Amino acid sequence: MAHTVDAVAQYGNWALVTGSTAGIGREFASQLAAAGFNLALLARGADQLQVQCRELASAWGIDTRAIPCDLSSADYLSTIAAATDSLPIAFFVNNAGAESYHGRFLDRSAQELEDCLRLNTLVQLRLIHHFAQRMATAGGGAIIQVSSIAGHMPLPFMAEYSASKAYQLTLGEALYYELKDHRIDFLTLSPGATKSRRISYGMEPAPVVRTALAALGQQPSVIPGWRNKLSAFRHRYLKSRRAAVHSMGDFQRTYLK
Ligand SMILES: NC(=O)c1ccc[n+]([C@@H]2O[C@H](COP(=O)([O-])OP(=O)(O)OC[C@H]3O[C@@H](n4cnc5c(N)ncnc54)[C@H](OP(=O)(O)O)[C@@H]3O)[C@@H](O)[C@H]2O)c1
Repeated sequence: MAHTVDAVAQYGNWALVTGSTAGIGREFASQLAAAGFNLALLARGADQLQVQCRELASAWGIDTRAIPCDLSSADYLSTIAAATDSLPIAFFVNNAGAESYHGRFLDRSAQELEDCLRLNTLVQLRLIHHFAQRMATAGGGAIIQVSSIAGHMPLPFMAEYSASKAYQLTLGEALYYELKDHRIDFLTLSPGATKSRRISYGMEPAPVVRTALAALGQQPSVIPGWRNKLSAFRHRYLKSRRAAVHSMGDFQRTYLK
């Protein structure tokens, strides 16, 4: 059975969404609130979080917690643990990640490259490990990893970002299988361009999130939107790896400043 938003409530009554105040994370928070989840919401901006918590609590009659936290800080895990250890988090949306950067690899500082990689791999890995352990002990749950279509193909001029998204995809698809043993449904969501704080074009966040919630528990990963699906299929399976790299590189180059 596909999980509609209503059916998602089978996972318990507390969910954590990182990057909840804008874009895809904001939409996850709204749809999970509508499904009846109490929400722990995380972002850096404390004021925006407070407003979001108040609005969702009053619209849906749910309990909320604001967790102001910079996932790039050294103490992010202890901050999150302190805020959530007493909550039965059974649904985790691992959404906040490094901003995509479009430009030349050699124009990036070593620090910028490391920051992107750290946030999109090590930090997200630790969060998955932390909450999956808690869910396994509690008897199950759900985790959605927000990757990107950029993880399905090598993207010149977004090299470190697309490589980090490929890491998330491979990790997530493997965990889909492995965590079933602990009754944890793991889904990797690979959106294409989606309207958000930084991007004014692409899909609306609502169908992206609906697609993820419908696919949860049914398959290892999902790409929302037929155009995105087609693009990933062409570049992964119809073209040789060499042809895919050249075609993506030529395309990306046209957008270089
Ligand atoms: N939008 C797209 O086209 C697209 C496409 C493919 C994949 N994705 C992926 O989808 C996810 C969400 O992207 P989005 O475009 O929806 O984001 P967005 O609109 O830019 O919003 C980012 C959210 O994350 C929070 N955030 C950013 N950096 C953070 C940090 N270091 N620590 C804690 N919170 C942080 C922001 O709040 P604060 O600034 O207050 O922290 C905000 O709530 C990302 O993983 C992205 O790679 C997006």
